[in-house]
Amino acid sequence: MKIKITQTDQSRISSVDFDNLQFGRTFSDHMLEVVFKDGAWQQPEIKPYGPISFEPSLHALHYGQAVFEGMKAYYSSDDTINLFRLDDHLERINNSARRMSMPELSKDLFFSGLEELIKLDYKWVPKTHGHALYIRPFMFASEEYIAAKSASEYSFYIISSPVAAYYSEGFKPVKLTTSQNYVRAVKGGTGEAKAAGNYGGSFLPAKKAQKIGFTQVLWLDAIEHKYIEEVGTMNIFFLIGDTLITPQLSGTVLPGITRRSVIAIAKSWGVNVEERRISIDELFEAQKSGDLKEIFGAGTAAVISPVGMIDHKGEQITLDQNEIGPFAQKMFETVTGIQYGKLDDSYGWTHPVNVGNEVSV
Ligand SMILES: Cc1ncc(COP(=O)(O)O)c(C=O)c1O
Repeated sequence: MKIKITQTDQSRISSVDFDNLQFGRTFSDHMLEVVFKDGAWQQPEIKPYGPISFEPSLHALHYGQAVFEGMKAYYSSDDTINLFRLDDHLERINNSARRMSMPELSKDLFFSGLEELIKLDYKWVPKTHGHALYIRPFMFASEEYIAAKSASEYSFYIISSPVAAYYSEGFKPVKLTTSQNYVRAVKGGTGEAKAAGNYGGSFLPAKKAQKIGFTQVLWLDAIEHKYIEEVGTMNIFFLIGDTLITPQLSGTVLPGITRRSVIAIAKSWGVNVEERRISIDELFEAQKSGDLKEIFGAGTAAVISPVGMIDHKGEQITLDQNEIGPFAQKMFETVTGIQYGKLDDSYGWTHPVNVGNEVSV
């Protein structure tokens, strides 16, 4: 695919303090932009990162047709930047788009857009192990038209932001609480899509949980309020005895790409993995019997996030771990080892982008 490229003549990279990166606040020099209209994606363009302008009647602002992805580019060597599980991210944004009645992206557009952006902005990929360039592809209804029905024009962008290691000062186990008043998703709704509104709806319960000392809400199912679903931006895993258990994907849980990787790696270690319904009561029982060994979240941002405590109606499950457990630690090292090109990628998950420059004479 031919992408029109307009390079910036004023890179902002020298003004960035790479030792003090704040998540999602600094953006690299370029972005991809492509518009869908008259039933087709138009000429994609990479241009300097900057403001975009729309009228107040922008459809997405009123009706929330907006989906996104979250992925990372990892420094492997001076010549190679690794992207991770590109096919899976493409499949997920297209599933999200379909659910939200939006157009799908072609493999060519998604892959070429990412590759060209990385080739232009590879210097923005931090070299420090654990740091990365966070990539945010997103699509929204960009028709300037107020009508409560699918729009006929959409815009797709890819922007990126250098980010520090999530746990630069060591792992900090998170504290979760269930909510008795709010739910994240219900079967038949949009929970399994990475749709912007899912997040908007979760901010109030998250804020309330944080006010009373918890890191995040542990979402329970919307019908019986007893089966565990997931956490803010992570899927959740329990090591009970020698079995790794994670809630099944039943339409309400976001199908995490880290989740999928954790399951594959655990299976390759010979671990018994169960994707099934798991109730909060079962978790309390597993703790009582001493079988509950570890709890951790899995997602692109933190990779693996140890959970130190779960509160449910004032009763707590506390794991005697002020740090990451051995299983989660090994998983963290394996996933990141593959992502940064330090471990052999027998799965074919990494997508290396060659950014080696020609040697000038
Ligand atoms: C609601 C939710 N669950 C789980 C995840 C983990 O998904 P992934 O591993 O693809 O980052 C995310 C992050 O994207 C999320 O937003």
